[in-house]
Amino acid sequence: MSDLANLEQRALSELNATDGEESLRAWKTRYFGEQGEVTLALKNIGKIPGPERAAYGKECNRIKASLGEAFEVRQQAEKDKALERSLAEPPIDVTLPGRRPAHGRLHLATQVMRDIRGIFADLGFQVYRSREVEDDEHNFGLLNMPPHHPARDMWDTFHTMTPGVLLRTHTSPGQIHVMRQFKGKPIRVILPGMCYRYEAITTRSEIQFQQVEGLAIGSRVSMADLKGTISAFARRMFGEERQVRIRSSYFPFTEPSIEVDMDCIVCAGKGCSLCKKSGWLEIMGAGMVHPTVLKNGGYDPEQFTGFAFGMGPQRIAMLKYAIDDIRQFWGNDLRFLQQF
Ligand code: PHE
Repeated sequence: MSDLANLEQRALSELNATDGEESLRAWKTRYFGEQGEVTLALKNIGKIPGPERAAYGKECNRIKASLGEAFEVRQQAEKDKALERSLAEPPIDVTLPGRRPAHGRLHLATQVMRDIRGIFADLGFQVYRSREVEDDEHNFGLLNMPPHHPARDMWDTFHTMTPGVLLRTHTSPGQIHVMRQFKGKPIRVILPGMCYRYEAITTRSEIQFQQVEGLAIGSRVSMADLKGTISAFARRMFGEERQVRIRSSYFPFTEPSIEVDMDCIVCAGKGCSLCKKSGWLEIMGAGMVHPTVLKNGGYDPEQFTGFAFGMGPQRIAMLKYAIDDIRQFWGNDLRFLQQF
C-alpha cells in the first residue's frame, strides 16, 4: 500500500514538472503505457493475497482515476498555451506573392525551324509538308536512283515489313510530290520534316533528324539564284558578315551538284577545332534539279530549270549555339532544353 502512495506522489510531481506536449506524452507512456507503472499495478491486483486484495484494488483504481484527471487538466493547459502562442503570432500575410507555375517553352528544334521558315518566307518560299513513311519509288526511284543504283548506299535505310515501304531518308521525295501537285507551274517551296537513317548514333549523327528541303523551279532559274538564296539565308541566320563557299559534289537527283560551306562562325575562316582547322563548316547539299527528276515530276526540262537544296536544322542549331552533341536534341534532358 505504501508503494501505491509513493507511486501517486511521484507521478504527480513528475506531471507538474512536465514542460510542453512532448514531455507530457512521455509521462503518459511512463505511467499508462503498456508497460506503464499504473498499468502494471492494476495487473498486479490478482496476485495480492485475498484479505488485502479488495483494498489494494480500490486504491489502484482511485490512483488511476486521479492521475488520469490530473493528466487531462495538464493537457488542457498545454493546449491553451499553444493556442495563446499562435494567436500572439503575426497573422498570415495574404499579400505575399504566390508561387509561379513552371513555364514551358518551345523545343530548340522548333525555335530553329521557325527561324528557318521565317527567313525563307521573306524570300518568297511557301511551306509544304510531305509524308515521313515513303515508298521506295519516291525516296529513290523517281529521284534518279533505280533499284540497285549504287548511290542508294549513301542513305542507310529503315525498311518496313511491307516491301517497298520505308521511312524517308531525306526530304527530297517531297520534291516529286510538290512538282506533281503544282502541275507545271513555277515553284518556290521549302519542305521541313523528320527523316530517318539506319546509322550508328554518334555526336554528329542520329537515326532521326530534321531536314529542310528547298525547291525552286521556273523558266530561267540558275545556279546564281541558288547561290544568292543560300548566301541570303546564311547571312540572315548567322550574321551579315558570313561568307559561303561552294564545292562540287554528287547527288543523283541534281546536276551539277554542290555542297555548301559557310566560313566558320568561331574563327571566321582562320581554322579552329570546330571547323577542324579548315576554316569552313558544311551547311547543306544542293544543286540544279536533274532533268530526269524534272521529267518525273511532270516538268519539261527543255522549258524549266530549278534548284534544290537540303539542310539539317539540327546541324544549323549546333553551329549557331555551339552544341557539341546532336543526341541532346531528342534526349529529353530538361537541363539541356531549358538553356534555350
Ligand atoms: N537529299 C540530300 C541528302 O539528304 C540533300 C540534297 C537535297 C542534295 C537537295 C541536293 C539537293 O543528303
